[in-house]
Amino acid sequence: MSPRAATWTLSIHSKDNKSGLYLCRPDLLSFRHLPHPGTDELGHMEIIAAIVYQLTRNLCIDEIKESGFDSYFVDHTTGIYPVSAGGIPFSVSPIASKGDIITNLHEDMAAEQKARTTYDNILRLADDPDVKDVIKFLRERELVHYQRFGEGKRGR
Ligand SMILES: [Fe+2]
Repeated sequence: MSPRAATWTLSIHSKDNKSGLYLCRPDLLSFRHLPHPGTDELGHMEIIAAIVYQLTRNLCIDEIKESGFDSYFVDHTTGIYPVSAGGIPFSVSPIASKGDIITNLHEDMAAEQKARTTYDNILRLADDPDVKDVIKFLRERELVHYQRFGEGKRGR
């Protein structure tokens, strides 16, 4: 798989701010369902970072240029940096926390669906079966998170 794919996988924890969502929303820390989606999501970040590392280690300059990884390389070499495939860096500014549990749970559910869509798009582009299997696993976890948040909303 192309090192360019590393930038696709980083997208999951950048533009849609899933990591930030869990880090910046204290109400999620008290979420009663296990496995805790926030803990799971931080594990996803670790998996994504491992994919990026594996796709970009030992690259030569020609591979960087030919794969379309050159723009990322100029700014970050092969370091792990949360930036979308479109070049938008991680930011907490779009994260909504309204102080209302129903509103926040809908925000959480939307974030899970945005993640699923991003994984679906990565699966359309990816050709490495090892990467695709991991992405499929992470996509399934987003569906579980979505369901857990939905269950949390039902009792309110
Ligand atoms: Fe999730």
